[in-house]
Amino acid sequence: MNSHNNAAAHARLRLFGVASAAALLLTAASSRAAAAAGDADRGETLYQGCQDCHSLDKNDVGPKHRGVFGRKAGSIADYSYSDGLKQSGLTWDEASLDKWLTDPQAFIPGAKMFYHLSEAQDRADVIAFLKERAR
Ligand code: HEC
Repeated sequence: MNSHNNAAAHARLRLFGVASAAALLLTAASSRAAAAAGDADRGETLYQGCQDCHSLDKNDVGPKHRGVFGRKAGSIADYSYSDGLKQSGLTWDEASLDKWLTDPQAFIPGAKMFYHLSEAQDRADVIAFLKERAR
């Protein structure tokens, strides 16, 4: 009803627009960084899904995970692996873990892990967790 209030309201709207555009840019930048590197914090949360079968320090349905990044596949002495995994000749790194977590049985025929992560970002984050926190 008076032009002064209208101008103030417009200025607030403009500021809000700038702030939310900046927030969007920041969000886009940080999710790009996470996609490249993997976010170990998020990976730690996602790892809860692995804990139905795995733990870091004890064999369970699946083998223990501490030190798995950089380890030869199928090499925990007191865990009973599938022949496929034992004979794979793989070493676990970003690329092999990414394929394994996409579809274990397509990657290694005869593998006995029934679980996968469909989202590339989820796989990158869990791999970052294993690499950085499961040493
Ligand atoms: C339903 C049970 C189950 C779940 C859930 C599961 N795994 Fe497994 N995992 C297994 C089994 C069983 C094996 C052994 C596979 C074999 O011998 O062929 C295995 C093996 C592995 C190996 C190979 C380790 C080695 O010593 O060579 C890795 C790495 C692995 N799992 C990662 C994961 C991650 C990461 C998750 C969660 C995103 C996960 N697993 C979820 C059952 C599971």
